Amino acid sequence: MLVERAYAKINLTLDVLGRRPDGYHEVDMVMQSVDLSDLLWIDKSDTGIRIESGASNIPLDDRNLAYVAAEAFLRKANISSGISIGLEKNIPVAAGLAGGSSDAAAVLRGLNRLFAAGYSLDELAELGASIGSDVPFCVYGGCAVARGRGERLQRVHHQMRAWVIIIRPPVFVSTADIYGALTPRQMTQVTRSKSMIESLMDGDFKRVVDLVDNGLRPATQRLYPEVAEYAQRLSSTLGHPVHMSGSGPTLFLLAPSERRAQRSYNAIRGFMKEVYLCRFI
Ligand code: C5P
Repeated sequence: MLVERAYAKINLTLDVLGRRPDGYHEVDMVMQSVDLSDLLWIDKSDTGIRIESGASNIPLDDRNLAYVAAEAFLRKANISSGISIGLEKNIPVAAGLAGGSSDAAAVLRGLNRLFAAGYSLDELAELGASIGSDVPFCVYGGCAVARGRGERLQRVHHQMRAWVIIIRPPVFVSTADIYGALTPRQMTQVTRSKSMIESLMDGDFKRVVDLVDNGLRPATQRLYPEVAEYAQRLSSTLGHPVHMSGSGPTLFLLAPSERRAQRSYNAIRGFMKEVYLCRFI
């Protein structure tokens, strides 16, 4: 039995460059792991893949990416053993925080250790790309620029400390519908990842905040106007801009110190139910 931690991610930038023949979109985005995490207990068992979780809002069968990852790993490594996975779910589900992808990545890392299979992280990331676009990033974690459909990674090693207040509004969105609703004008060739990376490397918090942007936000807000209303209410209460992660609906706010983060967290807790205080890792 071993334990793996699966960290959530936020998008600091997300630019959509165009539609691809395979139905996906070409993206260029800066992803950052934060210390909000799920916990997975992974063990060998007699037969089959079994997931147990106290969470009632996730499927425990092959609709769960952790299950798909276990299946993919066993096939690749040619292992016939059964697997049991205990999943403590702390990352909000279907929120734009890559919770499911991160669980899948944790299963790949965990099974690699459990069976001493000896695959490199690069090999696990390649396997992860067949499970979901965000899985390769989640295999490594940290900070990276992700291109292609999200699977082509350039890792970034910066030292910037920042706190993140994550707010999950009670709105349920479809990532596929949001990508599908993008208009040509919402796609761009001008990407912000280079400036974002420079600012992170320089530790320039103010510039990082100025550069945070998400090309999916107009489409999400058009399909789900409640997301725009929550964002508007949060930024007018706080006097700071709030940002959106992935295809949403999760909104977030960056803070340069724990004290400032705690103050915003307390203010938001007054009127939003799902709020998390975490930091870059
Ligand atoms: O790869 P994943 O299963 O997470 O993607 C979910 C959906 O989001 C895809 O089916 C596709 O409609 C859309 N998507 C996209 N371009 C990307 C990533 C996702 O169009 N780069």
